[in-house]
Amino acid sequence: MGVRVVVGAQFGDEAKGKITDYLAATARYVVRSGGGPNAGHSIHLPEGPVVLHQLSCGVLRHGVVGVSGPGMVVQPFALEDELHDLERRGLLRGEVALSDRAHVILPIHEAEDAWEDALRSKRNPAASLGTTRRGIGPAYADRAGRWGLRVGELSRPAIVRERLDLLYATKATVPDLPRREELEPELIEVGARLAPIVRPTESMLWDAVDRGDGILLEGAQSALLDVDFGTYPYVTSSHPTSAGALVGSGIPPTAVDAVIGVAKAYNTRVGAGPFPTEDSGTAGEFLRRVGGERGATTGRPRRCGWLDLVQLRYVSRLNGFTSLALTKVDVLGGLDEVPVCTQYVLADGSTTRDVLPTHAEDLEKVQPVYERLPAWPEFHERTKERIRREGASALPSTLRRFLGYITDETGVPVEWVGFGAAREDTVWLGPPTVHARPTGVAAWSG
Ligand code: IMP
Repeated sequence: MGVRVVVGAQFGDEAKGKITDYLAATARYVVRSGGGPNAGHSIHLPEGPVVLHQLSCGVLRHGVVGVSGPGMVVQPFALEDELHDLERRGLLRGEVALSDRAHVILPIHEAEDAWEDALRSKRNPAASLGTTRRGIGPAYADRAGRWGLRVGELSRPAIVRERLDLLYATKATVPDLPRREELEPELIEVGARLAPIVRPTESMLWDAVDRGDGILLEGAQSALLDVDFGTYPYVTSSHPTSAGALVGSGIPPTAVDAVIGVAKAYNTRVGAGPFPTEDSGTAGEFLRRVGGERGATTGRPRRCGWLDLVQLRYVSRLNGFTSLALTKVDVLGGLDEVPVCTQYVLADGSTTRDVLPTHAEDLEKVQPVYERLPAWPEFHERTKERIRREGASALPSTLRRFLGYITDETGVPVEWVGFGAAREDTVWLGPPTVHARPTGVAAWSG
């Protein structure tokens, strides 16, 4: 199966964990390449639900190596807890490999994250990013500042000491920092406990590429949270795009066979930032309740709204999607109609179908234009059982037409559909066929 990249196509929480877990059945390596404990990938196993934060879902499968890759920022104490929890439940079945190049999130970063976001909202309540408070931004900032601590350095006490000296010196204004004299030995100890799983993961993956082993790059966060191409500054601090997955794993672009975008049949966002198709009324409340839309990491209720094809076209071009997985279609079953945003009217009266305004301030002001499509019947358990038994031919005909519409409108074929939380509630629609770029989307003219 070569190298496949899974990318979130909206604001996160598209059920990427479920799709990655499904695709992992044919992989030998599953790799997280960015982010850290801000992610919460929910997977419903026959033994019960699991939420993975810093481990890839490969660790749940026998014969698979779950890699936490070089582009990640890793909170070592929380990672230990996650490993112990899976072990205790008998679910740690694959091998675990943690990159020695991944950066360490220190308790200092968590304190700084909370302080920075409070500072933003004190100056202007609307400026708060609503981060997950997991220390992601400060850890990536220190990586770029070149005084961060790498996982492989935890076993080198002299380096730990030197970096902590620098970090404490630069963060003198941050309140509630942990006591330095306690943190240093704790870091060295946790480094020693994690040492058996720490290794240079990139060379392991290059060997796997050479052998033709199946590698799945498990996206975390999502393209619209990308620090450059998302809704800055309401973004995370990594690159949750297909290009970012390669940088964060060390796999070369020439090795990639497929890029799979995962989108919900509607849309959600957790945290602050523009969300043109948000529905703050009863429809949004319906999506939140029926879709169980609550953050897997922070427990915050997610903001809910409708599928946005302008965003989907934009992220498809940004990531080079070869196919899409559309999830949670069951949530919309039984509605009168399904609104889908097809274009935006910008503040100056012009329209766009596939380009997002660069600035969050401008995106806040766009008017979404909707097409209202016929909905499909409610997804009863017997409908789900038929689809599990008979495959895609058992999908309701209105839903099949909806999938065809998404394919036509984005130029990217829908290849998988998720219709429930369980592992078996994903159906394959067949091999993706190459689609022409849809009308209205500017082609590169060379
Ligand atoms: P941070 O990544 O904790 O710095 O948070 C920055 C923004 O990204 C906030 O709006 C978060 O709610 C959002 N975010 C970060 N990780 C995820 C995720 O895994 N799913 C959804 N939103 C996320």
